[in-house]
Amino acid sequence: MVRKDIPTGGDAVDTCPSCVGPMFDRIAPTYDLLNHLLSAGRDYSWRRKVTAQLRGREALHIIDLATGTGDLLISLLRGGPNATRAVGVDISESMLGICRKKLQRRGLADRVDLVRADASATSLPGGSFDVVTMAFGIRNTADAAATLAEIHRLLKPGGMALILEFSLPDGGVVRWCYLKYLRWVVPRIGVAVSGDRYAYRYLDKSIEGFYRPQAFRSLMQKAGFREVSAVPLTFGVASIYRGMK
Ligand SMILES: C[S@@+](CC[C@H](N)C(=O)[O-])C[C@H]1O[C@@H](n2cnc3c(N)ncnc32)[C@H](O)[C@@H]1O
Repeated sequence: MVRKDIPTGGDAVDTCPSCVGPMFDRIAPTYDLLNHLLSAGRDYSWRRKVTAQLRGREALHIIDLATGTGDLLISLLRGGPNATRAVGVDISESMLGICRKKLQRRGLADRVDLVRADASATSLPGGSFDVVTMAFGIRNTADAAATLAEIHRLLKPGGMALILEFSLPDGGVVRWCYLKYLRWVVPRIGVAVSGDRYAYRYLDKSIEGFYRPQAFRSLMQKAGFREVSAVPLTFGVASIYRGMK
């Protein structure tokens, strides 16, 4: 499905699961390296900030959608006694394969079930999780509203959604520099390291085409979340959205 609902800042990008899944299968071997390189290591601290939101809560049953190679899942499970069990969901078997190995190496595999599914329709039982997390995933799903509805369905009453996603700085020189970086630097480093010409052009288009923070907060409210908030990170290049069921 090609997104037409929001401006893309150029060509539209294809976010149907049958297109996005194979793309992540292709880039899985170099995903972690490029992730850390392109974000200059900021991604570690962004995920830690998501994990910090669980402080003071215990014995949580967590589901991490679009878990990818598992960095957020690992951060959540290592964050303390908060997360007892977790489920990781992803559409790409190759990303899940790398995630599985990382969990095994860290002795965390017995606390996690990995499931291959579309995050917007998981078929997992509703009302069964205390926390649903999703880092850099919702932008890739074909229908963000449907994914938010699924997140809401998966949560127990009183449960918390934490969504980490790229955003664009508000304006001025930071935004100008960041857009240059996204449009010119990211695709060139991306292709040099991963060998995939499409994936890192897709990254730019999907970030530029994603909802602005205010619009995404409204979408969360429409999906039924309350106490919705957005915290900008690193000049607004990413945001943590939080909502309660
Ligand atoms: C940019 S990666 C983020 C991975 C991980 N959450 C992280 O923070 O590094 C996006 C992930 O979303 C997955 N994905 C894309 N569309 C999906 C969908 N519809 N359902 C489930 N996973 C999806 C991809 O396979 C990929 O692993």
